[in-house]
Amino acid sequence: MATRWDESNAPRGDRYDERWARLAASGQSVHGEAALIDSLVRDLENATILDAGCGTGRVAIELNRRGHEVVGTDIDESMLATARRKAPEIDWLLADLAHLGDHVDATFDVAVLAGNVMIFVDPGTEARVVEQVTHRLVPHGLLVAGFQVRTDRLPIEDYDRYATAAGLELVARWATWDREPYTGGDYAVSVHRRIG
Ligand SMILES: C[S@@+](CC[C@H](N)C(=O)[O-])C[C@H]1O[C@@H](n2cnc3c(N)ncnc32)[C@H](O)[C@@H]1O
Repeated sequence: MATRWDESNAPRGDRYDERWARLAASGQSVHGEAALIDSLVRDLENATILDAGCGTGRVAIELNRRGHEVVGTDIDESMLATARRKAPEIDWLLADLAHLGDHVDATFDVAVLAGNVMIFVDPGTEARVVEQVTHRLVPHGLLVAGFQVRTDRLPIEDYDRYATAAGLELVARWATWDREPYTGGDYAVSVHRRIG
């Protein structure tokens, strides 16, 4: 099965990182995701974080730099190769999120689906991806996902339905990683908590 990511012509590996480097050089923040996650786990000692669909490790590496234990997983070996080169000390696993349980035994305090991962998965697997990632959370663990809300891909109502079916409850939703209020716009950052 092909993910939408396979079919996209987005740059891969080092070339994917070049875009973020350009944004950083122009003074834009490229660590909004890590800053938000960091603030969510501030009260936890030794929080463990799964960067699901980690790509080249942008979010995981920054979280690790901030002192958190992280594991990154992705289905695209070319993205992981860059992540491994940049941060060999982090565990990077090749895994399809729709079959995450076949590859990852550990459970995490937080799982993050950053950078539109939810709209890049194989169409039709979105519910299974949410379920599989939820199963890798500790009781009351958080799933944090940021993606473009597109009716032709993943309406926010569908995402919430998949989350509820997986055993999650919505605790917060913002329009940006800086916690701008969500007013039904075309980008959402959602925080769900595993019930029990
Ligand atoms: C736009 S990139 C985002 C990378 C990273 N999260 C970031 O924010 O920089 C989307 C990533 O989702 C990954 N992806 C898509 N479908 C996946 C799946 N089923 N399992 C694991 N990773 C997947 C792609 O391989 C790609 O690295």
